[in-house]
Amino acid sequence: MASKMQMTDQTSSASDPHTSDPHNSYPHDVGVWLGDPAAANFSPLDAVAVQATMRQPTCVVFDADTRRVGTAGQGEIQSGAPEAGTPHYSLLGILPPLYPEWLGDRGFQETHGARFAYVGGAMARGIGSTRLVIELAKMGAMGMFGSAGLSPQVVEAAIKEISVELDPKGLPWGSNLIHSPNEPELEDQIVDLYLRHGVKRVSTSAFMGLSPAIVRYACTGLSRAGDGSVQRKNHVFAKISREEVARHFLSPAPANILQQLVSEQKITQAEAEIAATVSLAEDIIVESDSGGHTDNRPLNSLFSAILSLRDSLSQEFGYDRPIRLGAAGSLGTPVGVAAAFSLGAAFVVIGTVHQAAIESGISDSSRKLLAQAELADVAMTASADMFELGVKVQVLQRGTMMAVRGNQLYDLYSRYDSIDEIPVEQRAAIEKNIFRASLEEIWQQTEAFFGKADPAQLDKAERNSKHKMALIFRWYIGNSSQWPIVGETSRQVDYQIWCGPAMGAFNRWVCGSFLEAPENRTIQQIAMNLLEGAAHVTRAQQLRTYGIPLAQDALNFMPTVLRT
Ligand SMILES: Cc1cc2nc3c(=O)[nH]c(=O)nc-3n(C[C@H](O)[C@H](O)[C@H](O)COP(=O)(O)O)c2cc1C
Repeated sequence: MASKMQMTDQTSSASDPHTSDPHNSYPHDVGVWLGDPAAANFSPLDAVAVQATMRQPTCVVFDADTRRVGTAGQGEIQSGAPEAGTPHYSLLGILPPLYPEWLGDRGFQETHGARFAYVGGAMARGIGSTRLVIELAKMGAMGMFGSAGLSPQVVEAAIKEISVELDPKGLPWGSNLIHSPNEPELEDQIVDLYLRHGVKRVSTSAFMGLSPAIVRYACTGLSRAGDGSVQRKNHVFAKISREEVARHFLSPAPANILQQLVSEQKITQAEAEIAATVSLAEDIIVESDSGGHTDNRPLNSLFSAILSLRDSLSQEFGYDRPIRLGAAGSLGTPVGVAAAFSLGAAFVVIGTVHQAAIESGISDSSRKLLAQAELADVAMTASADMFELGVKVQVLQRGTMMAVRGNQLYDLYSRYDSIDEIPVEQRAAIEKNIFRASLEEIWQQTEAFFGKADPAQLDKAERNSKHKMALIFRWYIGNSSQWPIVGETSRQVDYQIWCGPAMGAFNRWVCGSFLEAPENRTIQQIAMNLLEGAAHVTRAQQLRTYGIPLAQDALNFMPTVLRT
């Protein structure tokens, strides 16, 4: 076989193998396939036929008479020429089996002890619930608990619940660390909690630069093994959607922060020295157009740019450890997930579609709304946490007016300096339709809330009437994200459900299958079907690349109840 391969390698790689072979055989064959010609298939493969090839070695054969490429099953493989008169086809190669477990970068599975390179993204206020994290881990994936917007006490209870269930089994999980520039003590408190409870993976969000808290988390426990290699105790999954932010996490921790942490005895000198030789994060989540906070970047452009940045910074800093890039945003179908892996993603991160799972922390009424979403049923609207800065979040538009109303409030906020400046009719309209109360009443509730939570806000509102207006408007934006969680159906029209285009694509894909009904959408079946489907699409893509004709529906993996 070796000599044959050498011989065929001499043919020009630029030539067209289907037309340029003078010997009427395939120029890149590696031998012959001998067997019952009926066991070979040269007609276009449909989805069922593609699936049938997936978990077994598949011979790719060439029929010199018809000049067609096909697949062959049971038969004998021979490297030399067959005896005269023996029916045979040229053997172009053998595709090994393909399993969903093999998608992505195996280094991800090895480092984190997961079966699949698949992550459930953090979803705030416990929408990325403890159940979601536990079920994902039991299936072989990894979930991030959605700690943002929850008190440290609630987060502590959640991570205890998860660790009791998963740690004894050695199953991986993580939790979110959201950057809180206005409340650095809160970020410190959450990091304390994670270190105290041995949370080994943290997914970061909203960081524009680095804080001492995240550097402390990443560097705590850095050590060297006997052979000098670096051992990490804590793993940062840095979520980024911009190059300048990625750069912070792809570089070693800044020297000034390391020095500060050493002098405060928060990390040791040895940890600081190792930290200077490795990137702060070794798992980067490249987030494209997603539900919630998003820069709406398309995955293919963003991922390619971050890939190049990763490679140039790895070279610049001389790292000898790999940095894995995961892909997030708009992944809700097998084709989408397969595309992310073929872009080079080491792992994939899903959010929006997981929110539709029965284990997520939202109400059934919200899940029903999500199940009706089509591709274009999303919109950007004002965010509660950065309302004044004009920051937007992507939300579900169908079945709710929240997107329009949030934008209307931001528009009023931009135009006027105080609620007293708002024209009377407009004020009456928002009181009736949006607040369902007078703005005075809403201000009383707001005062009562901030009186306990953050009295400084009230002092500022006293001095600055625009700030008072922002606090009143934030009453609506903040509550509208709580109503879909608790299922406040009298406010369904105001549900703020973070949602990206993945939801509509998912609904279209599962239409007519068991996953169409919201009550059947378990997290394990969603994740397994996405992975199985992505492997199917990858297999179809391999077959197509080697010249095997595919039927139009070949990529259409229909959801089916899968063993987990
Ligand atoms: C309801 C919801 C809440 C989210 N909350 C957070 C969060 O608190 N922290 C975070 O890092 N990402 C958050 N995300 C983003 C997800 O973790 C994930 O990166 C993103 O949803 C992936 O894109 P997709 O929505 O297109 O699947 C949230 C997403 C959704 C849909």
